[in-house]
Amino acid sequence: MSLEVVILAAGQGTRMKSALPKVLHPVAGTSMLGHVINAARALEPNAIHMVVGHGAEQVREALPAEDLNWVVQEQQLGTGHAVSQAMPGIATDSTVLVLYGDVPLILPTTLSQLVAQASEAPSLLTAIVADPTGYGRIIRDNAGALQSVVEQKDATSEQQAIPEINTGLLAAPAALLNTYLPQVKNDNNQGEYYLPDILPLAVADGLSVGTVLAASELEVQGVNDRLQLNLVEREYQLRQAQALMRAGVHLADASRIDVRGELSCGVDVSIDINAVFEGKVTLGDGVSIGPNCVLRNVSVAAGAQIHAMSHLEDAVVGEEANVGPYARLRTGTDLGRGARIGNFVETKKARIGEGSKANHLAYVGDAEVGDGVNIGAGTITCNYDGVNKHLTEIGNGVFVGSNSTLVAPLKIEDGGFVGAGSTVTRPVNQEELAVARARQRNITGWQRPVKKDNKD
Ligand code: UD1
Ligand code: MG
Repeated sequence: MSLEVVILAAGQGTRMKSALPKVLHPVAGTSMLGHVINAARALEPNAIHMVVGHGAEQVREALPAEDLNWVVQEQQLGTGHAVSQAMPGIATDSTVLVLYGDVPLILPTTLSQLVAQASEAPSLLTAIVADPTGYGRIIRDNAGALQSVVEQKDATSEQQAIPEINTGLLAAPAALLNTYLPQVKNDNNQGEYYLPDILPLAVADGLSVGTVLAASELEVQGVNDRLQLNLVEREYQLRQAQALMRAGVHLADASRIDVRGELSCGVDVSIDINAVFEGKVTLGDGVSIGPNCVLRNVSVAAGAQIHAMSHLEDAVVGEEANVGPYARLRTGTDLGRGARIGNFVETKKARIGEGSKANHLAYVGDAEVGDGVNIGAGTITCNYDGVNKHLTEIGNGVFVGSNSTLVAPLKIEDGGFVGAGSTVTRPVNQEELAVARARQRNITGWQRPVKKDNKD
């Protein structure tokens, strides 16, 4: 039987107190809805139907994928009503899996179990939770068979004591949904069409409703406010940290690493506290990341070391290179093998050759730097004339003295030498020494200023 997924995401999410629709709030850098869609895709369904309402346009724009079929629920009349909006687009001989856009940690393995037992009758994902307040409770008969779900607002105090709750996620044959959804009424305390109300209808027809008990409470944690969002974020980060450690990565503290994207690591990678990884980050064998570093779309080759407080974005770090502490590698930085970028050095669109160094306080932007180059403290490539950016080319073995100003476009050929404090505006040929600074004058017998005797 083919599978079609319906993701409910029309609710407002008032308790987030945010202009952003709830399901677009990120968990580990990806929207909650994005996580749910990924879990759905893992099951390779025939179609994914997105039921949206509040902020529909914004949600749609944020998820431009082609495999999503958008359904707008104009008025939020309840979960049963929401699913019925999607039914006209669903093949009647399929199995339907209903997911919530605000339950982002759900695992595909759990969903497969749910779908596997929903070919003949509905199957519901339940959970046993410490505090069931607010959830629908699972009502079973004496033999343990599921009879119905009673919402918090409709439950007697006896029913409220039941710890098994409805996670909201269920699977059912489309044909049964088409039969039962139109029969669901809204004569309850919220005046809503409840999706779980199809269950007693199925039971009355002699069907036995299956249940799958979620392995952990957090897997089915719904997000209604920012406290729950944080709970989910920390759980997700912990899962990732544990996976990294299982794969052989050394973490100084599993609770102080944030991966907001894809991090892949070689053997014997070591990551100190408070590292943040965003986008796609690759760390080669033996790489070490110091405390408080941020790496976004970066590839670091084997043996390189990134020291404390460094910020790297869209950059490539070569083997055995050394970065930081306090370095900033911006977009287009490409460090060669054994290169060294030290404290308070900023690089942008800069290729730095093998073994070349900029150890302290420099800006190297729009630059091609050869091998074995030394860039002294305080060196600046003046790449911008107020209108255009220009290139600085520095050959192999060049030495740039401290506090030099290299005015681009500029070429310093192999073996060139720039005297400290120079403002270099003209090309430097091979092996030449360029000195472009005022000559020192020493004045003997000069008078120091004397303090004036005035009263202000
Ligand atoms: C629902 C369940 C409850 C379960 C709980 C788990 C019903 C009637 N109740 O309650 O048994 O314990 O989830 O969290 O199903 N939505 C729409 N359109 C609507 C209404 C809701 O798309 O008209 C979406 C929401 O955006 C959300 C999901 O459905 O993603 C659940 O809606 P919500 O209002 O949070 O239901 P609960 O009252 O929490
Ligand atoms: Mg809810």
